[in-house]
This record gives sequence, structure tokens and C-alpha cells, in this order.
Amino acid sequence: MADTITITDDRTGKTVTVPITDGVFPASAIRELDPSLFVYDPAYMQTAACKSSITYLDGDNGVLRYRGYPIEQLAEHSTYLEVAYLLLNGELPDQTQLDQWRHDVTHHTFIHENMRKRFVDGFHYDAHPMGMFVSSLAALGTFYNDAKDIHSKESRDKQIMRLIAKTPTLAAMAYRFSVGLPFVYPQNELSFPANFLNMMWKVSGYEVDPRLERAMDVMIILHADHEQNCGTTAMRIVGSSQADPYSSAAAAASALYGPLHGGANEAVVRMLTEIGSIENVPAFIDEVKSGKGSRLMGFGHRVYKNYDPRATIIKKAAYDVFEVTGKNPLLDIALKLEEAALSDSYFIDRKLYPNVDFYSGLIYQAMGFPVDMFTVLFAIPRTAGWLAHWQELLTDKDQKISRPRQWYAGPDERQYVAIGDR
Ligand code: ACO
Repeated sequence: MADTITITDDRTGKTVTVPITDGVFPASAIRELDPSLFVYDPAYMQTAACKSSITYLDGDNGVLRYRGYPIEQLAEHSTYLEVAYLLLNGELPDQTQLDQWRHDVTHHTFIHENMRKRFVDGFHYDAHPMGMFVSSLAALGTFYNDAKDIHSKESRDKQIMRLIAKTPTLAAMAYRFSVGLPFVYPQNELSFPANFLNMMWKVSGYEVDPRLERAMDVMIILHADHEQNCGTTAMRIVGSSQADPYSSAAAAASALYGPLHGGANEAVVRMLTEIGSIENVPAFIDEVKSGKGSRLMGFGHRVYKNYDPRATIIKKAAYDVFEVTGKNPLLDIALKLEEAALSDSYFIDRKLYPNVDFYSGLIYQAMGFPVDMFTVLFAIPRTAGWLAHWQELLTDKDQKISRPRQWYAGPDERQYVAIGDR
């Protein structure tokens, strides 16, 4: 059978035949048929907006790979910095490359003192840390005028290294400000996750527990990329205007902030707290099904129509963390909720399974993170994914400034009416 598709415009009888490659055909076929004909595809449900070699996702079979490597193997054997290198460069680093990358990132974790003293200190006392993080990312770009030089690989590499290195510092700073604690400076002798935990929690005598350090590393590996999700698409759309990477990353982080995206882990913990006990689970499920209450947060995914492979790894990591911190009392409610949903035809028929956010909040909460910080924790590693896509976009000859078309549904031309006659 030919790997082509033939489209006929029944209004004119004109026909166009184009190849189907890897299940994709070019929309230029429509343009060829009639340049004023458009495809209506709200939320890009059926649209591939780019060609990408970074992350492979098979939602029906629950498969996730970064640059070809299964997420399960990376979570078990790798570190976040190695994974970030892989996402950004396409290959795992050798020892020399990894040592250099680790050295570069470690030595760029400090931020300009004015960022903290003048910018962060200006936030309202109860500012949401994710709101602070989003605006700090954009503000950070104003310290690096060379960031605008996006056509220079050397400049791009420098900004990428700065962003990967400084996001944990911005995140911890937002947290320390929100609780009124003095800022803790980065420590070069610590690993990437340990340095972050240290900047978060350091008070006299604090030592990072190596088991929590590893759990943090696994969590950030799992969140490092997820192909063309809402935040990454925001990164690509803003980046396509040739904005600097700090501004583009701030846009991506803003998208992540929403409760249907990275804000869902925060919503899960709030939901579990509201449910309160396992006896209330059936009533909650009924309410979700009636469509009158909230959705079952942490369930369902645009692409996964099977168990999100990250949720499986996180569920296991949760038990490792609870061994150190004690069990999160919300775990029993979560397990009961999962069991009830996975045996209910409403969720089965709609292929709704736990996603990455269902258990991640429980881990973060057990580690001591306030729920307000959860999306910030997601944004730190996702910065690597955003930047890998930004770089890919800028070197992709097929790409231009993003500019979708619309289906105009407003009034036809009409004449202005003076205010007294309306
Ligand atoms: N609880 C109850 N019903 C749900 C849920 C849910 N969590 N998710 C989807 N549904 C239902 C919808 O009501 C709809 O039912 P209908 O066909 O009877 O109208 C059907 O399943 C399909 O849902 P859509 O909203 O069309 O699916 P979409 O792909 O647009 O949404 C999304 C995906 C936003 C993730 C959705 O499943 C959701 O809202 N989940 C809860 C929020 C969440 O956990 N988000 C995190 C996603 S992972 C991430 O961003 C990192």
C-alpha cells in the first residue's frame, strides 16, 4: 500500500497527493489545494508543529524516551546533569564532557546580588513562589545583554548553562523569601540536587540526606522533558519570534503554572487533603463522574492513554522517600482513589490513568516542600527540556515565526454607531 494521502477538494475537484512519513503528512498539501483553505484544530490535537529528535512518547503504550533512552533506565542509572546534557546535545557525555559540564554548571549557580536585594525583596510578603520564579526568569535576562545574540552558538551555550545553573538558585530564593529566611548561597562542592536541597533547607546543622538527594535527582530526571506540551510549545512559540531565552523560558514557565499543566501536583495534594479520609473516596469519585465537582486531579493526559511511565517510577520513589521522612498520611487516600478510579468504567472508558502529578506531590510534601513550591520544582528540570527545544527550533530550517491562522466567526462589516444612538 502506498504511503501517500490524496485529498480532493469537492468544491473544485482539484486533487493533491502527498507522502505520509512516520504517520505525518505536510499541511502544505492543503495550501497547494487552496491557499485560503485552513484546518480547524483547536489545542493542536492533530497537528505536528515541528519535527523533533529530542523526546519520543508513545501514549498508547506508556513509552517515554529521551534521545532514544528509556526513561526507566535514565531514572535508575543517570543523574539530572547527565540527562540535561543528553537532551541538549543529543548524546550522553563521556567522562571528560560530563566533568566539564558539571564544572560549568556548578560555577554559574550564583545570581547577581541586585536580583535578590532589589528585585526579589520587592515582592509582596505572600507572593506565590511560582509567580516569583516566572518573573525572576524574565528579569534574569536583563543582566545578560549577550542573551539577545541568539544566532551565535557560543552565546546560546552560555545562556543555556546559566539558565540550567541558576534556576535552582532562583527557586530556593523564592522559597526563602516567602518564609522570611535568609538566602543561602550555592555551594560548589555539592551535587546539583544536593545544592538545591541545601539552599532550600539550610539552617545550622543541616546535612542533605543522600537518599533524599537521590530521590530529588530522580524526580528532576523524570520532569526534564515531555516533548510538545503546553509549556514547551510556549517556549517554541515565543522563541520563534527570536526573543532571548530568558523571556522565552519565562513564557514557558507561565504556561507550566496553570493547574491543568504543572500546577496539577499542587491541585492533587489540595484534593487529597479535602477528601480527608478513605471513607470519602467513593463519594468524591461520584462527584467527579457527575461532572459537577472537580476533575480527578493527577489523572488523565492528552497523550498517555495508558499508565504514565513516570507515575510508575514516582510511585516507587515515594516509598523510598517515606522510609526517610515517614509515610505521607495522604498516601492511603491516593492509593484508594487510584484503585477506585482504575476499576470504574467512567475512567476505564476514557482511558484515564494516573499521570506524573498524581504521586509527585506526596513525595514533595513528605520532603517538606510547601505545595506552593511544587510547580517551581517542576520548572527547574523542565528548563533543560525547554532549552533543548529552543535550540532545536533555532537551528531548524523549516521553522519561521509561529503564526497560526484563525476561523473568523465575528460579524461582517458594519458601520460605526455614535454613542447616543446605541
Ligand atoms: N477527571 C475526570 N474526568 C476527566 C479527567 C479527570 N482528571 N480528565 C479527563 N476527563 C474526562 C473529560 O471530562 C472528558 O469526558 P467527556 O468525554 O465525557 O466529556 C474526557 O475525559 C476527555 O477529557 P478532555 O478534557 O477532552 O481531555 P484532554 O486531553 O483535553 O485533557 C488533561 C487532558 C487536561 C490532562 C485532563 O485529563 C485533566 O484535566 N486532568 C486533570 C489535571 C491534571 O492532572 N493535569 C496534569 C496533566 S500532566 C502534566 O501536565 C504534567
